[in-house]
Amino acid sequence: MKRRTAILISGRGSNMEALIAAARDPGFPARIDLVLSNRPDAAGLATARRAGIRADAIDHRDFGRDRASHEAAIDAALRAAEIEIVCLAGYLRMLTPLLVQAWQDRMLNIHPSLLPSFPGLHTHSRALEAGVKLHGCTVHLVTQEMDAGPILAQAAVPVLPGDSEDDLARRVLRQEHAIYPAALAAFAAGRLASRPDPDAALANPLGWELGDRIQTPPG
Ligand code: GRF
Repeated sequence: MKRRTAILISGRGSNMEALIAAARDPGFPARIDLVLSNRPDAAGLATARRAGIRADAIDHRDFGRDRASHEAAIDAALRAAEIEIVCLAGYLRMLTPLLVQAWQDRMLNIHPSLLPSFPGLHTHSRALEAGVKLHGCTVHLVTQEMDAGPILAQAAVPVLPGDSEDDLARRVLRQEHAIYPAALAAFAAGRLASRPDPDAALANPLGWELGDRIQTPPG
């Protein structure tokens, strides 16, 4: 049985595309049933529709400052579609406790840094400024504290001399597209616990030239 999954986006949707592509595999344990965006102009909506997936906008501007009502509308759409797992993929709205609690332990996010380093925005420029030699991305469960939920998967990339912010973003994004589908597959199949479990962690073996080889937990 494939777990019914929704993806929330706000823009380009390249991680969404990676999840959709992976979920086409008949053996993938999740099915992407719904894409929602808080922005009607999100490019990812058209991409999802082209892939034959229902994609709707629930425009936050229609709700003014009433975040709770916007999230209630999202929650209603998720429930109407009988969604079991929610993947945030470049969803650029702070969540209130309403959505976080409703989807506790069933909502994943991808963040472009090796958490707990660099939560929040502008992670690549901050990594360059800090002079770190390793950077990367993290898939984690969503909790009320931003970018702080239990870590399900991480991938690291080297920071190379002369890297621009865009160079680093591209290198990390490639890993995002690898670990998000791998983490969703493991989570949907019940191989990743909702609490941190060292035996269940996914990681790449490090190095951009090895970046496509993702280690998955056995069984
Ligand atoms: C990604 O870098 C993701 O880690 C972050 O927002 C960006 C979204 O990119 N949360 P895309 O829309 O998936 O292309």
